[in-house]
Order: sequence, then C-alpha cells, then structure tokens
Amino acid sequence: MSLILGIESTCDETGAAIVRGGRSVLSNVVATQTELHAKFRGVVPEIASRAHIENILPVIRESLERAGVTLREIDAVAVARRPGLIGSLLIGLTAAKTLAWALSKPLVAVDHVHAHLYSVMLGGGATERRGDEATKGPAEVEFPAVGLVVSGGHTALYELKSWLDVRLIGTTIDDAVGEAYDKVAAILGLTYPGGPVVDGLARQGDCSVIRFPRSMLGRESLDFSFSGLKTAVLYHVRGVPGKIRGKADEHRTSNIEHRTSKVEDVAAAFQEAAVDVLIRKLKRGIARVHAKSVIVGGGVSANSALRASLRGLGVSAFVPPLEYCTDNAAMTAGLGHLHFEHGELAGLDLDAITHSRFRDR
Ligand code: KG4
Ligand code: ZN
Repeated sequence: MSLILGIESTCDETGAAIVRGGRSVLSNVVATQTELHAKFRGVVPEIASRAHIENILPVIRESLERAGVTLREIDAVAVARRPGLIGSLLIGLTAAKTLAWALSKPLVAVDHVHAHLYSVMLGGGATERRGDEATKGPAEVEFPAVGLVVSGGHTALYELKSWLDVRLIGTTIDDAVGEAYDKVAAILGLTYPGGPVVDGLARQGDCSVIRFPRSMLGRESLDFSFSGLKTAVLYHVRGVPGKIRGKADEHRTSNIEHRTSKVEDVAAAFQEAAVDVLIRKLKRGIARVHAKSVIVGGGVSANSALRASLRGLGVSAFVPPLEYCTDNAAMTAGLGHLHFEHGELAGLDLDAITHSRFRDR
C-alpha cells in the first residue's frame, strides 16, 4: 500500500501529512495562522505566504517524525495545486517539486476542493455520521454522489461519478457560507473565525424569534447567494440605514430601526437560514444527478446544525471526522494516493492555479 506525503498551503494553514493506502493517517500536522490574521478578520495574502515560508519545512519534518517514516520510504509527494491564494500555493508547490526532484519520487497534483470531499474517507474509511455520531461503521460511498464543499472560501455543489470524476454543478455567486459566518460574527462583535462561535451561540438561541431571508435564486438553481442574508443580519442588528428627515441631517444616514435581540437568537436565526439553504440545494442536487449518497466537506461541515440536518435527505450522508473538516494535508495525501494508483502524475512544470475549474455543464 502506497505511502504518500501530502502538502497543503492553499490558504492560511501550512499542512503536511503521511497517509498509507489513501485512508490510514499516520500523521497530520497543521500550522495554523489564525492568530496572525485575526486582527484583520480575514486572511491577508502577503502575511499568509510569508508564514508558509517559515512553517513549511518544520511542518514536513514533523509529519515524518510523527509517522516514524523517512523521506526515502515515501512513494510519492502529493500537493494541493488549486484553488487558492497564488503566493500561498507557490510555497507548497515549490517544496513538493523540490522534494520530488531531489528524491526522484513521483509528484502528484491534487485539487484542494475535491480533497475536501475525499476527507470523509480518512481515519479508516467513510463513516456515515449524523450529528457527531457515527451511525454505521466504515462504508463505501455509493456513486453517483452529490458533493457539497462549504468553507471560508468555497460553497459549491458537485456531481461525483467517482472520487476522480468530479463535476461542478453549482456555486456561490457572492459570499461563501463560511465567509458569511465570519462576517456575521464580526457584526455581532464575536471573535474570528466566526463559525465555531456562532454555531455555539446558535445552540443556545431561539431561531423562531427572527426570520432571515433565504436566497434560492430561482426554482431550478443549484447556485448559492449569502450576501443578502449577511446584510439582513447587519440591518437587524444595526438598523436599516436611511435618511433622517430634518434640514441639518438631510444627507446623513443613520440607524432608524434599531432593534434589540439576544445575540443567541440572532445567531440561531442566521444559522437556521444558512443551513436551510444548504439542505434545500443538496436536495435539488440529489434529484438532479439521481444521487445515491451525499458527501459534505470543508470547514463549515463541522457545523452542528448542518450535520444534524443531513438526517432528512433520504440518502446516506458522509461528513469528515471533525479534525479533517478544516484545511489539512491528510486529505491531499488521501486523494493523491488515488491519482498515484491511477498513474496520474504531474511534471516538474506543474503550475499553481488560483481558481476552481470552471463549470462544465
Ligand atoms: O476549510 P476551511 O478551514 O478553510 C477554507 O478553505 O476556507 O474553513 C474555514 C471556515 C471559516 O469560515 C470558519 O468560520 C468555518 O469554516 N467554520 C464553521 C464552523 N467551524 C469552522 N462554520 C460554521 N460552523 C462551524 N462549526
Ligand atoms: Zn479549504
């Protein structure tokens, strides 16, 4: 069974992992940059690439040490080459190419978003989960499947005919859902990243107190939009901007409709609207591709309400173990194993690509 070194540096986490046979994670090291970006409430690309340069070699070294393997024992080096921030991608790509060349090992290119979907296979094989409870032992994901990747940078639906045959069928036209969580957290004066905090507060709130809008973008659409929901939360919390009638203030905008709601209730109502849209689009996706299963990956797949709601879909639903929801290199190594086994190798002229593959439907 092949032993793959995975390298991840698409955004703000520097990761290296050793995975055997595509499923068994021998080590998974992630150097997070959350603290560096927290005061900016978002990832600053230049800061991210500088931190990757500092972290990449220690992280690779630690992944080997923890797994108890040497570079010579590795069968291939897999690297996330798309999509991501260009400066960040180039650090991982350069490290991977250098190692592959110096060791005369094959290089494998991995799509980071497809790897988020593959992350449900890590830790021994796919386990169907409802909430955080595993309801079945390891199982094979049945294809065709609908994949949903939900993170700070991505919100997209895919048709999967296999792990290597993945087609984009819907995407966000504005904010990613994780980005909406982060912005709502900022509106509510909470810490960054906002997802886990808003999720925690939402569990203590009453979602029936407020009803926020759901953007469905038409009856058939598989696309997403979250900017309207984010703005609705902003207006609810800060008031709707409008003109104050009065000579001196004629052109000033101000909060004219300031309401007071419990922060827990706002979080719960936002989460209810966000998850409702995700679930309804998943149902449309299942019908569109006649899916036998659903796969959800990315940072927001850690969300408690989303995990619980997967129960009502009528097909088997797979989410990653919590540790593999956010960016990591184990998923890169795992999917890299499949490419390697299929002889899909990359050359040393491999380029970094910042965007996802364009929709091809
Ligand atoms: O996959 P990821 O680590 O990075 C990207 O590729 O973007 O996802 C990070 C995102 C952040 O926006 C964070 O707020 C969100 O995932 N997130 C959550 C939860 N945990 C992380 N969103 C909602 N509920 C959560 N429990
Ligand atoms: Zn990601």
